[in-house]
Amino acid sequence: MPTTGSNFPSLPEVHPIAERLQKYLARAGVASRRKAEKLIVAGRITVNGETVTKLGTQVQPGDVVWFDGEPVEPEKLEYHLLNKPAGVISAVSDERGQRTVTELVPSQARLFPVGRLDRDTTGLIILTNDGRIAHELMHPRFEVDKVYRAEVRGEVKEEALVRLRRGVKLEDGVTSPAEAASTGGSRRGNSVVELVIHEGRKRQVRRMLEAVGHPVIHLHRKRYAMLTDDGLPPGESRPLTGGEVEALVKLTAEKHQRRGRN
Ligand code: URA
Repeated sequence: MPTTGSNFPSLPEVHPIAERLQKYLARAGVASRRKAEKLIVAGRITVNGETVTKLGTQVQPGDVVWFDGEPVEPEKLEYHLLNKPAGVISAVSDERGQRTVTELVPSQARLFPVGRLDRDTTGLIILTNDGRIAHELMHPRFEVDKVYRAEVRGEVKEEALVRLRRGVKLEDGVTSPAEAASTGGSRRGNSVVELVIHEGRKRQVRRMLEAVGHPVIHLHRKRYAMLTDDGLPPGESRPLTGGEVEALVKLTAEKHQRRGRN
């Protein structure tokens, strides 16, 4: 897998997952957790050039950890595409024992979902341990296209589609213009609508469609940026190819450049 660091212009860092130093060291294969604690207390570990002797110090993605003057290799970066089934939540873990997306991806890495899909929404979600690309992809200013297919109540008329295209007033503000098309397929008074948006507000598509008079019966994300669900059945995941990761990195880098020129 390629790493992504050098392709990114500087950005405010986000750290979706912090980890205790002793756990980080154990996971990197330096020592067992208990032995790692002894190494910390003995002053043999530095984080970003500072000796750390306090147990429980948090390490953030991007921190540089050394042991006895040698860098500790951080976890290899992984990128997976999951076709999330219904009934699974977009979280790393859940106190109430609900199934989470990380359970569906066979990996030992500390993966987290990029953005979220509602519990009952199906479709594509990326999981990675690369905080930087996650930040870029989730930020609305990067305008990553997300394509949804929604089965909705009622017959969707052109007027409703026009409202969706112009932007819909929701309680947290007017939505950015969306691409919206009715794909026919009307059954028992229901319709199928395809929406392309690049914002990621909570329950946004459901709220937009509700606002134009068509509550959602089922929602599926069929495309995320250039990634489609072709050949990926619900509940299955696959690692992204090196080319796909590069394409995502390039996409966000291009947006940076375009914004810089404006
Ligand atoms: N919009 C929604 O309403 N729900 C999702 O899961 C994703 C987008």
